[in-house]
Amino acid sequence: MDSKINKFYSQHEDEYLEKIIENFSSQPSPKIKLEEIIKIVKENYHNKYIKINWTSITHLRKWDFINAAIKKLNKKNIEYLEIGVFRNENFDLINCESKISVDPDPESKATFKTTSDEFFSKNKKKFDVIFIDGLHEYLQCQKDTINALNCLNENGYIFFHDFVPRNFLEEYNPRIVNLWTGDVWKVSIELSQSSGLDFSVILADCGLGMLIKNSNNFNYKYLNDSLKDLGFKEFLNLNKTVCYKDADEAYKNF
Ligand SMILES: C[S@@+](CC[C@H](N)C(=O)[O-])C[C@H]1O[C@@H](n2cnc3c(N)ncnc32)[C@H](O)[C@@H]1O
Repeated sequence: MDSKINKFYSQHEDEYLEKIIENFSSQPSPKIKLEEIIKIVKENYHNKYIKINWTSITHLRKWDFINAAIKKLNKKNIEYLEIGVFRNENFDLINCESKISVDPDPESKATFKTTSDEFFSKNKKKFDVIFIDGLHEYLQCQKDTINALNCLNENGYIFFHDFVPRNFLEEYNPRIVNLWTGDVWKVSIELSQSSGLDFSVILADCGLGMLIKNSNNFNYKYLNDSLKDLGFKEFLNLNKTVCYKDADEAYKNF
């Protein structure tokens, strides 16, 4: 197993499950009934977790890597696309003149206020760098990835947010907690087994996937049947196939 992530594995103390339930009971969600949440928590509880504090592990953030890729491409007219942009926290920090974004939330600051599927179905443009941070569900992220690959220039980059869930609550889909990665990690397993693509996950900012499209001759490895029903427990085992990179090292290597 890749020690870059394995070394962060830890175990909750015995009474942790009761503490989680207590926490949910004291702050009931307006969207899901408490009994339903408690059922989900009990059925999916896993006492192992990944002990990473994203803000103390590195000061580097998603935009640092995206900007490093843009600089490395060393090209005039870089075309940047962000899927899921919300209030432009990341988008505004991207150093490139030609950039567009897509987000269906009417409150978002997106260039196109629509879903990624709708955008890609009409898009004719090619991009050099794409950041996928839209709906954090496996099959949607898989679709976004395929669509992004098909409109990415050769040697272009795709970045992905939230490829490292740290515990079963962050991973559980549909969302029951604020800090949510969802199960997009499944795409990191598929990309690690795909050919013709250089793929790794940088240990920064909730797990930043980074893909370089080395050639137009790639083969995406669909694992839908074996991955769709899996959860956090399985992530802790399956991630041995993923190449994780230390953030500062990855940044130096640009
Ligand atoms: C985590 S936020 C994005 C944050 C932003 N990338 C940043 O770093 O500042 C996720 C966004 O994805 C959007 N989203 C949800 N479903 C989507 C879809 N089908 N297509 C595109 N965006 C979607 C949400 O509306 C939300 O604003």
